[in-house]
Amino acid sequence: MRQGSTIVGLGRYLPGRILTNAELARTVDTTDEWIRSRTGVEERRIAAPEEASSDLAYGAAREALETAGIGPAEIDLIIVGTTTPDMVFPNVACLIQKRLGTRTVGCLDVSAACSSFVYGLSVAHGAIVSGQAETVLVVGAETLSRITNWRDRATCVLFGDCGGAAVLRPARKGDGFLSFTLGGDGQGGDALQMKAGGSRRPASYETIERGEHYIAMNGSEVYQFAVRALCDAAAQALREADLGPADVDFVIPHQANIRIIESAARRLKIPMEKFFVNVQRYGNTSAASIPVALYEAAAAGCVRDGGLGVLVTFGAGYTWAACTIRWGGGIRRRA
Ligand code: UT7
Repeated sequence: MRQGSTIVGLGRYLPGRILTNAELARTVDTTDEWIRSRTGVEERRIAAPEEASSDLAYGAAREALETAGIGPAEIDLIIVGTTTPDMVFPNVACLIQKRLGTRTVGCLDVSAACSSFVYGLSVAHGAIVSGQAETVLVVGAETLSRITNWRDRATCVLFGDCGGAAVLRPARKGDGFLSFTLGGDGQGGDALQMKAGGSRRPASYETIERGEHYIAMNGSEVYQFAVRALCDAAAQALREADLGPADVDFVIPHQANIRIIESAARRLKIPMEKFFVNVQRYGNTSAASIPVALYEAAAAGCVRDGGLGVLVTFGAGYTWAACTIRWGGGIRRRA
């Protein structure tokens, strides 16, 4: 058994198209002021018509491998967190395996909505600690714009498209990931879902007419769950590592809504300055949210070697997940 695992490289892929609140306000009954004050979002990225989630995943993976100084041949396992795969099968992990030119390694997609990336990190950590893998690529990539109802002002202002990736390698005891906590509660399933397109309600004229291939959400119910989930998951991950709020140097929360993050910070008694926030630029990018925020926090110098961090997220299902990480050295930034 190895001692642990850590992140040795990070990557990000941002679609070029920026959709501002002002532009949205020209197509749905909303205002820049409403969106900013209720969510913190100012703009979001939208994938080009020819771009799918695997393209965003591939771009992020390439950069993560480059910053890690690791070639595709060294990858032992590919995990992709996504709710918007290119198609039902093959999975996105296989699609990027082909493009990256790795060996014929294990390829799996993780489906836990916005929690998918942290769930994926947990699987990767387990594979490394058990000795099954040495180098694991974990990606979060979403094209939520494809399942957004652009006429529903209650949801279309919230989401965006992005990709983020991390490369994990073994670490010494006390470095890297210190604890993981994962949770799920199917009782919350109705509050946030895409009703059709699966085996219960396959795509038909009727499902399309009813708009059942779009995100359907009870916003206020999800909001209340979200604050509770962020706090409980972060607190549990800290407890499992024998740490407390005072030990935390940085928090990378799921970027869904600035008000959710601020409420969680107050309840956790961790100063807001320690929370990295980029929701204003990308909106909620689901599985891509945490790796993109972590990438930008590292680039901004908010994540330093030896610093203690918490990654914490929640999503449809309901699902939630958190982990603590003692940031290890070795991440080489781009020149
Ligand atoms: O990854 C998980 C994904 N989901 C989330 O994290 C979402 C969690 N929930 C939220 O972030 C918030 O509930 C929202 C941002 C979605 C909504 O904020 P809210 O403060 O809970 O507003 P509300 O739903 O209570 O709506 C207040 C009013 C309503 O009008 P009335 O009924 O009071 O007249 C809405 O119709 O705001 C109206 N409204 C809008 N007005 C302008 C809803 N969306 C908009 C909009 N622009 N885009």
